[in-house]
Amino acid sequence: MTKENITPGLNITRDQMIRLLNEDLAGEYQAIIAYTVYSQVLKGAAYTDIARELEVHAGEELAHAIKIAKQIDYLGGMPGVMPKPVKTSNDPVEMLRADLENERETVGRYRERIRQAEAMGEFALSETLRAIIVQEQEHEIDLAAALDINVPPAKEPANRKNGHNQVKNTQASRR
Ligand SMILES: [Fe+2]
Ligand SMILES: [Fe+2]
Repeated sequence: MTKENITPGLNITRDQMIRLLNEDLAGEYQAIIAYTVYSQVLKGAAYTDIARELEVHAGEELAHAIKIAKQIDYLGGMPGVMPKPVKTSNDPVEMLRADLENERETVGRYRERIRQAEAMGEFALSETLRAIIVQEQEHEIDLAAALDINVPPAKEPANRKNGHNQVKNTQASRR
């Protein structure tokens, strides 16, 4: 038996894929909650448009969660029920930054997951994830526009150890 507590690189087993998709699902639950709450508490004329947009995001995140849960079930796993923790704040800018930070992480995770799905020959899973990542990038664009900044680069999944698809030095050079 090999040690299983680190996230592997490109070539992963079905069980590892199920585990990683469950982490993705926890992120989708987190996004549903954050967008549901933030869209309602974001106050002020400057934020009317983005608040409406965040409501739309909440619905899209729910659709993502259902799609990921379906793929977990298809692979023979049990979809999890716990969201990742949601940051709370009264400050609109902080809320939007928290959303953007989560989206960056999500895009980084799905980029990796798509490559892993392709390597497994799970092309339907790959297609599902590709459709999701298109919307996650649109979420990033909406949030960055509201914050009046450029879309920051996606975040590499943190707990990966010398994965061969890892892009080196990009994060350090972009800080
Ligand atoms: Fe999502
Ligand atoms: Fe999103």
